[in-house]
Amino acid sequence: MPAVKIRDNVYSVRAVDYDIRVFHGYETPFGTTYNAYLVIDDKITLIDFVKEPFTKELIKNIEEIIPVSKIDCLIVNHIEPDHSGAICAISDIVPSADIYCTMNAQKGLKAYYKRDFDCHIVKPLDTLNTGKYNFTFIPMPMVHWPDSMSTYLAEEKLLFSNDAFGQHIALKEAFDDELGLPKLLERAGDYYANIVFPFGAQVQKLLSQVSPYPVDMICPSHGQILRGFVPEMSEKYKLWSQGSTDPGRAVIVYDTMWGSTEIMAKTLFDEWKNEGRDVELIDLRKKHISYAMAKLLEAKYIAVGSSTLNNNLLPSVAAFLTYMKGLRPKDRTALAFGSYGWSGESVAQIEEFFKALGFELLSSRKTVYRP
Ligand code: FEO
Repeated sequence: MPAVKIRDNVYSVRAVDYDIRVFHGYETPFGTTYNAYLVIDDKITLIDFVKEPFTKELIKNIEEIIPVSKIDCLIVNHIEPDHSGAICAISDIVPSADIYCTMNAQKGLKAYYKRDFDCHIVKPLDTLNTGKYNFTFIPMPMVHWPDSMSTYLAEEKLLFSNDAFGQHIALKEAFDDELGLPKLLERAGDYYANIVFPFGAQVQKLLSQVSPYPVDMICPSHGQILRGFVPEMSEKYKLWSQGSTDPGRAVIVYDTMWGSTEIMAKTLFDEWKNEGRDVELIDLRKKHISYAMAKLLEAKYIAVGSSTLNNNLLPSVAAFLTYMKGLRPKDRTALAFGSYGWSGESVAQIEEFFKALGFELLSSRKTVYRP
């Protein structure tokens, strides 16, 4: 994909990854993008990089605008390899470029790439002047790594938000209004649930820190640039980070050996539907655990069902519960269910996960062999 002009002097030099389907355990059925940004001023600045295998695409896109050798400043908003992967190649071309990042980013770059990077360590609200432009650095630790940072470009009212406000989607179009609001929010919610969910307090801090700044566009490190739906996305981030849930929504997640636990799941689905809830029934033989997490993002109610297999959970359910425990949803009302033949441990094991997350428990349901 060619570079995309955002402003007269600001370009997306992203790489589009149409093929990625698994992102550290998270299913990405629509691919993703690795968004880097080039800002032309008296000093030329590159904000973030791309995943290492896409280095040539990044360099090609930069060279559509200027030779890479002209870059003066490198801003590292985040060291995770999907964004920093090309840093060694770029640094080799411009070894004297000034690198701006947090202390945690410098430590992480050294530990990951086994190479010393001579960085300018930035603190909250430190600034960088490149001529007519002024960048403000807004560290956002644990949104979603210790090194994470946003960068604000005042003169263009652009917020380079890194992973915050991201979406995993690969399109030749680069902007949110070219995708449409429903699909944008679906992709952003899926991303929030699977990447950002544990860090609501840190997201709220970020929202508070950027609130004094006028923002025309949010330029994240994955997916569409936000220019048409900044207020809508900001409102969603506010709600998600507060942990707001809808009592009218429920998810039922299950796997089954011989169909008995599935009968229980469908019975519960009918009951909750009849009580007026919008219920999503998720069969883990057909849907990925990350799909289930996305559906839980705004749902107040969750039920999880598993047959007992060898005194344990079915592996798919164990994987979902382990994944959910790490993502730490809060304030849910939960119900465990499952069938068994003789020992029947699965339901108690599901409830242990619910208790660890502090969920309110509804009466569990167990069935011997067939409901
Ligand atoms: Fe998109 Fe935390 O990397």
